[in-house]
Amino acid sequence: MADTSPATLILGGSGRTGSLVAQHMADRGVRAYTASRRGSDRFFDWDDPITYADVLAGVDRVYLVPPVMRVRYADQVAAFLNQAEIAGVWHITLLSTYNGDLAPREIDVATVEADLAGREAFTHSILRPAWVMQNFTDDHLPVINGVLAVPSGGAAEAFVDAADIAAVAVDTLLEPDAHAGARYGLTGPRAITFDEVAATIAAVSGQVVVYQDLDQETWINGAIAAGVPADYAAMLSWLTGAIIAGNGSTPTGDVETVIGRPATSFAAFAERNAAAWTAREDR
Ligand SMILES: NC(=O)c1ccc[n+]([C@@H]2O[C@H](COP(=O)([O-])OP(=O)(O)OC[C@H]3O[C@@H](n4cnc5c(N)ncnc54)[C@H](OP(=O)(O)O)[C@@H]3O)[C@@H](O)[C@H]2O)c1
Repeated sequence: MADTSPATLILGGSGRTGSLVAQHMADRGVRAYTASRRGSDRFFDWDDPITYADVLAGVDRVYLVPPVMRVRYADQVAAFLNQAEIAGVWHITLLSTYNGDLAPREIDVATVEADLAGREAFTHSILRPAWVMQNFTDDHLPVINGVLAVPSGGAAEAFVDAADIAAVAVDTLLEPDAHAGARYGLTGPRAITFDEVAATIAAVSGQVVVYQDLDQETWINGAIAAGVPADYAAMLSWLTGAIIAGNGSTPTGDVETVIGRPATSFAAFAERNAAAWTAREDR
């Protein structure tokens, strides 16, 4: 007989963390659906509210990846949460951002956290990751001609592995009561500078890689010229500004507390992903 028990819905199911959450669920034989515009089990588009009800059918908990590359999305998330209440969902794990409650008002990070936390229909867990290590392997922070150029003022960040975020997310989804109301600051085991990042990439790839501390405005303008939406400058400014001011993420220990093993180090991540840089020798 077909299993009709409620399932977990994984938004951003084709993305970095969502796809890993889905893999964990499949490995454990837990019913789950991925959702996104392409390459998921169910079609879902934040910009098409008609898709909200369909995607929530037969679902009792949700891994919620908000609309990406935007600063104004609180209304869309609120509409989705309203629909989730109607559908009988009772737990939401939200992928937010490190220090999300301190986000500037022109970015909806804190507003979305507060909306979720204020709803009585759901238990919730809020994941607040530091800068994700995969930024260095998926073109967000590429090494070009041996140079890694990012504004940092020489300060440090406790980069976190997307696989650790996914592992924490899975635990919150499988045992919602144990993580109800939790806000996890998800970081790596150590804060490291971009100089150390470049040196580590150089070591695992066998190539010369140097770090260049770029001016913040120049870097943001470059991102917009490359296609990042202009209003997203506020987010990039907040994220890089925190590091430059010496307020980048610091190790929290939350990954280890939740999943029972230490967070992945950048060195281990780089070893595992060395091919991402060696395959780009021509760049
Ligand atoms: N990068 C970092 O350092 C960092 C740090 C902290 C927090 N975060 C947060 O992490 C989140 C991103 O999570 P992630 O890295 O797991 O995902 P991701 O790899 O950025 O992928 C985004 C996912 O969202 C889907 N998506 C994009 N536009 C959509 C739309 N209009 N409707 C429905 N789905 C859509 C994508 O699939 P389709 O395109 O096929 O729809 C994809 O599955 C962002 O909210 C970001 O703020 C990132």
